[in-house]
Amino acid sequence: MDARPPASARRLTAGLLVGAPVLLLVLFTLGGLTEERETGIPTVPFVTLLSLPLDIWIRDLAAALTVGLLLVGLVLAPRPDRSLARKASLAAVVWAVAVLCQSVLTVSEVLALPLGSSVDTTRVWSLVAQTDLGQVMLGQFALALVVALLAWVVQTRVAGLLLVLLVAIAAWLPGLTGHSGIQEGHAAASIGLGLHLVFASVWVGGLVATAVYAGSGAPGAGVVLRRFSVVALVSVVVIAETGLLNAALRLDGVASLVTSAYGTIILAKVTVLIVLIGWGWRHRRAIAKQWDAHQGVTVLDARFRGLFLRWGAWELLWMGVVYGLSVALSRTAPPGPAYPGDRVTAGAITLLVLGLPMAVGFINARALRAPALAYRYPETAAVAAILAIVIAGVGVPSALAEVTVGAQIGALIGAVLLVAAGWVLVTVLSAGPALPATIVAMAAWPVAIWWIERDALGGLNSGTWATVLLAEGLLAWLSFRPRRSSTVETPMIDDGPMSDDGRAVTEVTSA
Ligand code: HEM
Repeated sequence: MDARPPASARRLTAGLLVGAPVLLLVLFTLGGLTEERETGIPTVPFVTLLSLPLDIWIRDLAAALTVGLLLVGLVLAPRPDRSLARKASLAAVVWAVAVLCQSVLTVSEVLALPLGSSVDTTRVWSLVAQTDLGQVMLGQFALALVVALLAWVVQTRVAGLLLVLLVAIAAWLPGLTGHSGIQEGHAAASIGLGLHLVFASVWVGGLVATAVYAGSGAPGAGVVLRRFSVVALVSVVVIAETGLLNAALRLDGVASLVTSAYGTIILAKVTVLIVLIGWGWRHRRAIAKQWDAHQGVTVLDARFRGLFLRWGAWELLWMGVVYGLSVALSRTAPPGPAYPGDRVTAGAITLLVLGLPMAVGFINARALRAPALAYRYPETAAVAAILAIVIAGVGVPSALAEVTVGAQIGALIGAVLLVAAGWVLVTVLSAGPALPATIVAMAAWPVAIWWIERDALGGLNSGTWATVLLAEGLLAWLSFRPRRSSTVETPMIDDGPMSDDGRAVTEVTSA
């Protein structure tokens, strides 16, 4: 029965790895990987700037896998699953090692020391003994090791439940650090971030574990899938709520959401979360018919498993992107108060104009409708949209902020205008090949961004041009992506692995 398909498990985990390039790309464009050399001041070495975020990313993923594998293996499975518990133990060891490396790298970062000099027990112990961050690391390290040991001996569901509680505490601990900072006394931020981390781990690690379990053809896979589906739904709600709460506590309103790098990463996370919700919903729909038709089913047939794993692999790819963005967020300083005249960042423009409409269109293609005139004159619509972007990106927020209504309302109106302009642009371009309109949009986009960012402090940098490249790629994809059917009503629908609307899901055998 233990015919586990390693290829599928490897493919699933491979999706999560996309987070590493995403993380490094974001940090690179924000200057987070550049050594700051100033005479007389010690410099944090490049190798530390590079390794610390990667190490935190490994820590977060290892934590997620430990939580998910234990939850599915010891609590959701009909009988405790030794194989998943052993994998969880391995993940917990990786987690503990990542925390250990984090302590050395943190010494190197805080004291601006070369890595060699930071591997020093006295210095590491000072960090652990004297700082909240160090104590959180110590707690996580100890708990991860305890979990790694206990995962081998736990046999019953009650003991499994207690172990899951223990691992949840370990996953929650970094909530006390990050930008919430216990020393600042932000209880809501700390508890909220802790919950955010626990439920993100449950969702991501739980999906990996469910896929591994279902992929193995183990008896009870149907039960696990149904139970995890409920857990995933709860997790998404908690993640969104605590994420937005934390964002609200760190940002000075809508203005810093659209004018700062920190706010831009949050916008990116919201966009990916919308895509993930859409993906989860379509995944569910793809298998729902069979679920309803086979109540009480426990063993999944091979084609059903294949379908589930294919969807799961794509979902994990997007989750990998969120993890990369999350660690980049935790390495980016939250912005100060907003000022009239702050410019909307190039990244926020890309996300508001292209990202959000595309993500919403992915969930419900029918939401993407533009006035009929826009379809009749796509080039004019593209020119109008680009003009609106320039006005919304630069004119509206500064003018309104300086004249009457203040920076927040100015930014809000600017953001709404950007989304509206994007709605028209995305709808028109995705309705069918419209070469002249695409050329207009692709040629005008860099000019518009240059115009908007040209006087902004640090406005035109490598990050700006990286987002321009991303936008150009999205515009080209919108116009030239392969279409199964090109109707105006369903421009964004791409049935992907669900082309048969669930009909590919075949007989599910009863246990
Ligand atoms: C509405 C969407 C979301 C918002 C607004 C949001 C917001 C935040 C904020 C404000 C932080 C704190 C960063 C800091 O310390 O400054 C954070 C951290 C984090 N988020 Fe989210 N988040 C969202 C969705 C997600 C999703 C979908 C996941 C994963 C499934 C996720 C995983 C994480 C992780 C792992 C961290 C901790 C990163 C670290 O410190 O190592 N978030 N998020």
